Amino acid sequence: MHEQRRRTASTTLTSSERSSGRWTLSLAGFCLLALTGHPAAASTASVPTPDERVSLTGSDIERHERAAEQEVVLITGSTSGLGREVALRLAATGAYVIVHGRNHERGMEVVREIEEAAMGAASFHAADLASLEEVREFAGTILAEYDRLDVLINNAGIGSAGDGRQVSEDGHELVFQVNYLSHFLLTHELLPLIVDSAPARIVNVASGAQTAINFDDVMLEEEDAIGRAYAQSKLAQILHAFDLAEELEGTGIIVNALHPATFMDTRMVRRAGVEPRSTVEEGAEAVMQIVLEPVESGQYFNGLKATRAHDQAYDREARARLRDLSRELVGLDPVR
Ligand SMILES: NC(=O)c1ccc[n+]([C@@H]2O[C@H](COP(=O)([O-])OP(=O)(O)OC[C@H]3O[C@@H](n4cnc5c(N)ncnc54)[C@H](OP(=O)(O)O)[C@@H]3O)[C@@H](O)[C@H]2O)c1
Repeated sequence: MHEQRRRTASTTLTSSERSSGRWTLSLAGFCLLALTGHPAAASTASVPTPDERVSLTGSDIERHERAAEQEVVLITGSTSGLGREVALRLAATGAYVIVHGRNHERGMEVVREIEEAAMGAASFHAADLASLEEVREFAGTILAEYDRLDVLINNAGIGSAGDGRQVSEDGHELVFQVNYLSHFLLTHELLPLIVDSAPARIVNVASGAQTAINFDDVMLEEEDAIGRAYAQSKLAQILHAFDLAEELEGTGIIVNALHPATFMDTRMVRRAGVEPRSTVEEGAEAVMQIVLEPVESGQYFNGLKATRAHDQAYDREARARLRDLSRELVGLDPVR
C-alpha cells in the first residue's frame, strides 16, 4: 500500500466502509482494469481509514491513503466540455480522476459531482498551459503525489476564434503552446510514471481540422498565417501521438489520437459562434473507446472509426523535426 502525500479532495466512503477501512472497486472499475489488461483486475482494492484532515474552501476534508490498485486518470481541460464529460464517465468506472484546468470553481464542481454521486474519487489541479513553468510544476505535483498514472488524456484546448495572433508567457504562438507544446512537455515529464504503471494509455484529443506544419513559420508570424493556428496545433498532436506510439512500442503503453466529434456543444464552439452539430456525449463515447477497448497503438480515430490522418502525420522526417523543435522549445536536450 502506498500513501498519497497530498490530496485536495476526498473519496466518498460510507460509514461502514470507513469503519471497516475497506473499499471494493466498483464492478465497472474492475472491468476497466480487466479491459486494459491490468494485473490489478485480479484483486480488489483496499482503502484504509482516513488518517488526517486538511482544510479546503473552509471545510475539512479527509486525507487518506489511496488503494494502490485503483486506476488513476488525468484529463487535461476537464473543467468543462468534452473533458468534463470524460472525467465523469471515467469516475463512474471507479477510477481516481485528476481534474485539470484553470478555473478553480468549475474544477471543484466536477470533483463535487463525482464525489456526491459516490461515483469514485477526484481532485482538482489548476495549471495554465500558456506557461511552461506551470506545466513543469503541475507535472512535479503529479509525480510527487501519485503512485501511478494509468491514463493520460491530453484534451485541454483553445480555438483561434478571431482573436488574432497571441503569444504565451514563454513567447510562443498561444494556440500551438496550449494545444500541443504544453502537452508535449507534460507527457514527457509524466512518462516515467506512466511507463511504471503499464499497461497504460495516452490519448491526444486532436481534431479533424488539420493543416501541415510549416517548419519555416511554426509560430505563425507571416502575414495571414494565424488562420492556421488551430489546425496546425491539432495536427502536431497527431504527429506527437504517432511518434510516442513508436517510441513506446513494446512497453504496454497504447498511444492514440482522435477527432472526438464535429462541433460539439461546448464553450469553444459557442465562443466561435458556430451552431453545435453534435453532443459532448458523442465525443466522450469516442474517447472512452480508445481508453477502454482493446485498440492498437499509433492510430488516428475519427469518432469511433480508425482512419487516416493528414499525410504529414506519416512523414517520419516531419515528426522528427517537430520532436526536435519541441524539445528545444521546452528546454530539453536533443535526442541523439
Ligand atoms: N468542440 C468540438 O466540436 C471539438 C471538435 C474537435 C476537437 N475538439 C477538441 O476537444 C478538446 C476539448 O474541447 P471542448 O470543445 O470541450 O472545449 P471547452 O469546453 O472550451 O473546454 C476546454 C478545456 O480546456 C481548458 N483550457 C483552455 N485553455 C487552457 C489553458 N491555457 N490552460 C489550462 N487549461 C485550459 C479549459 O479549462 P479552463 O476553462 O478551466 O481554463 C476547459 O476545461 C479540445 O482539445 C478541442 O480542440 C473539440
